[in-house]
Amino acid sequence: DAPTTASLRALAVRIAEEAGRQVRDGRPDVVQVAATKSSVVDVVTQADADSEALIRRIIGTERPDDGILGEEDAYVAGRSGLTWVVDPIDGTVNYVYDVASYAVSVAVVEGGPDPLTWTARAGAVHDVTTGQTWSAGAGEGAFLDGSPIRCAQPRPLGESLVGTGFGYDAARRASQARVLATVLPQVRDIRRLGSAAVDLCLVAQGRLDAYYERGLNPWDLAAGALVAQEAGAVVVGLRGARADASMTVAGPAATVADLGRILEGVDADSDA
Ligand code: IPD
Repeated sequence: DAPTTASLRALAVRIAEEAGRQVRDGRPDVVQVAATKSSVVDVVTQADADSEALIRRIIGTERPDDGILGEEDAYVAGRSGLTWVVDPIDGTVNYVYDVASYAVSVAVVEGGPDPLTWTARAGAVHDVTTGQTWSAGAGEGAFLDGSPIRCAQPRPLGESLVGTGFGYDAARRASQARVLATVLPQVRDIRRLGSAAVDLCLVAQGRLDAYYERGLNPWDLAAGALVAQEAGAVVVGLRGARADASMTVAGPAATVADLGRILEGVDADSDA
């Protein structure tokens, strides 16, 4: 039988919270960096691998025919048409330093694993540092620990608190710094919290007025984008594109339109 959206949301919440408990309880006083990935600043820890293994075990038991795309292990295509898109620790650098926030992000989509073509069904983001869980089901709203949430009312950009994030590649960062130099003088302030999934959920909750970032991976944005959309925000790319690695902009529609114009004006969706 096809699973209901409510049952998928409940499972996403359960997985994110179980993995989050393991990440929290298993954190050693000093975290060793197990390896670096794309560059020396792009770190992975044993906890990332262990969290993803736990997530894959639960999905394998509960939804054996679904596919899985995760940050730390190989993509597994499914037979059901549903794909779980998971980030076992989003905000790994925060995890290493034990500063807020780091989170487990779990989404389930139809037609994955490309954000340009998938349809998100449900998602959950569990912030390990605060114990909060945001979740959403397509067409069924967005929730923080079970209570409905809505994004902020649109405000002029000059009165907007805007989240952003940076990639791990030095050339990408130089380009992101150039974009930031244009954005920062036009907004109330910038926050770089270090977890894209949490940024998107804070937009959903109205704690951030908007958020933008270039270079997000599917697992960084899958759950958070649905939570934000179900809370009334729009989550898009630039120039009419859908949100993906080239650019993700989130917030109330009018704020996204204003911020999008500025980002388009400086070609924020390219590394030039
Ligand atoms: C990173 C975080 C960060 C964002 C990076 C992501 P990771 O994810 O979400 O906030 O700026 O683009 O890669 O590596 O901690 O899972």
